[in-house]
Amino acid sequence: MTESGADGLREALRARGLDWPAPIEHHDRLASTSDRLKERAREGAPEWTTVLALEQTAGRGRQGRAWASPAGGLYLSVLLRPRFESVGLIPLAAGVAVAEALGEQGIQTELKWPNDVLAAGRKLAGILAEASSSVSGFDWVVLGLGLNVATAVEALPEEVRSSAVSILGLTGRRCAVADVAAAVLARLTVWYHALRAEPRAVLRSWREHAVPWWGRRVELHSGGRILRGVAEGVDPGGALLLALDDGTRATILSGDVTAVRLEPDTTQR
Ligand code: BTN
Repeated sequence: MTESGADGLREALRARGLDWPAPIEHHDRLASTSDRLKERAREGAPEWTTVLALEQTAGRGRQGRAWASPAGGLYLSVLLRPRFESVGLIPLAAGVAVAEALGEQGIQTELKWPNDVLAAGRKLAGILAEASSSVSGFDWVVLGLGLNVATAVEALPEEVRSSAVSILGLTGRRCAVADVAAAVLARLTVWYHALRAEPRAVLRSWREHAVPWWGRRVELHSGGRILRGVAEGVDPGGALLLALDDGTRATILSGDVTAVRLEPDTTQR
């Protein structure tokens, strides 16, 4: 763990007028920032405790996948202890925060439900929200972000190389990881507080950033199942609404959605 790294992030946050209210751990290399933060959560760490690593050896992604985490990326996890109703919108709020932080770098992004952050059609960042619940409701949420700051494409596994992109690749600029992290955390505090005060504003903003797939045919992969239908939108709780091919409707809480190209219609010729 490096103290100077944590100080650098605190300094970058202070430059944005934020006196970070909780401990920050900074690691050159770690198995997984989210796994480390879960340990801290169980020990009673306060809300906003943050773990950052410059490299992960066992990074985890959504749907049980691995998250390749070579040097050059930002790997960040933040502890939330929500005491409000709209907990289901946290992953969407996080997506909006990341999109806005990247917007500061002049990068235009699109959010693919629930919160894949795409730029130029490629994945620039991914977010993993993991919750622990107790009888009294949600105990904590660990929000993990992996963002390709200056990640060399060759350092990524072959199967994701063509679909990934970094800030460096998009802009030619090598941003400081602490500055990118501070930008994300600053926007996250804003949207997290909005979840309590005005959850509809979060949804509105998420829709503004979302890939405009509404009314299009999509495929949804979730836990080994594939559903096909038309994406209709997102409900007030952040779930994806699908009109399925069999005429029924589905409300989807998690999964991977991809747009399906329509086969050319040959019947008209
Ligand atoms: C996705 O599959 O799109 C989500 C990827 C989330 C990766 C981040 S990196 C920091 C944190 N630690 C992990 O092990 N995973 C998350």
